[in-house]
Amino acid sequence: MLERIRALREAFDAALPAATDAEAIEALRVRFLARKGEVTGILRGLGQLAAEERKEVGKAANELRQRVQSGIDQALEQLKAQPADERHVDITLPGRRPWRGGLHPLRQTELRLIEIFQTMGFDLAYGPDVELDDYNFKALNFPDDHPARDLHDTFYIEKDVLLRTHTSPVQVRTMERLKPPVRVITPGRVYRCETIDASHAAVFHQLEGLYVDERVSMADLKGTLAAFARSLFGARVGVRFRPDFFPFTEPSVEFAFSCAFCGGKGCRVCKNSGWIEIGGAGMVDPEVFRAVDYDPERFTGFAFGLGIERIAMLLYEIPDIRFFFENDLRLLEATW
Ligand code: DAH
Repeated sequence: MLERIRALREAFDAALPAATDAEAIEALRVRFLARKGEVTGILRGLGQLAAEERKEVGKAANELRQRVQSGIDQALEQLKAQPADERHVDITLPGRRPWRGGLHPLRQTELRLIEIFQTMGFDLAYGPDVELDDYNFKALNFPDDHPARDLHDTFYIEKDVLLRTHTSPVQVRTMERLKPPVRVITPGRVYRCETIDASHAAVFHQLEGLYVDERVSMADLKGTLAAFARSLFGARVGVRFRPDFFPFTEPSVEFAFSCAFCGGKGCRVCKNSGWIEIGGAGMVDPEVFRAVDYDPERFTGFAFGLGIERIAMLLYEIPDIRFFFENDLRLLEATW
């Protein structure tokens, strides 16, 4: 037994100088002094020895325990006294970069659009997602039997309460609140009971523009959209109007930008047409002015609306609208 104690002491003395960090010191403590440690084992076995032997071995074992304890205490003291940069930390290692998030591509696109129109003097206006039929349809001159009110297109909450199907109701709310001149854009989320595919979602985003004053003309509309097209896609991009119909504008147009990707020659993005359809627009219908108590003899105005997803898909070359809502990090990180 005494032999074994001597061997343990030698082992401890040999191991102690190498224990220069907290982990190694703790390993020594566990090996010798913990509940199942070697010294503890000997001390616990003393009871089984003959009285004679017990005295001698007990003394040696206790000495060893003290030696180990003070050795460990000293090593810990030394460790504490050392400056941090000498504690076996390799301060030349490159740091670990913290993981950073970023703005969703839709939000980035929205901010870009807002910035462009603010530069042209448009203010921001917002309205509720849960909207009244009066604002979403009636004041915008939709007849009672218009197909857009159909249950298949509109999520109804109650008979006259619905999830807005476009951002145009914010035009009405804004004109109720302000007297002309009015110049606002109204970004926001809209809802339609659509069958979902690569270019349709049931929840998506629009940006609406409205400008009302005396003598606002179709030329102002075209100039504004052209300036917008050029800031977004470059100086050579042009705007095309084609006749269309919306209940709240007269005349109404659909507008397209010449394809910035091929310069109008025809490519995959513009489906070989040279043009990319962006949205709807027109001159505010006098019926809408009557609904908000504007004098249609005195004021004219233009309005336009476009889908923010559509713009983001062009800017970031994203082929499927559903990718925006899946939050796959590969797509999100690619746009940061
Ligand atoms: N609200 C229309 C839609 O959701 C888009 C639109 C068309 C907005 C013409 C307008 C406009 O302001 O003048 O399809």
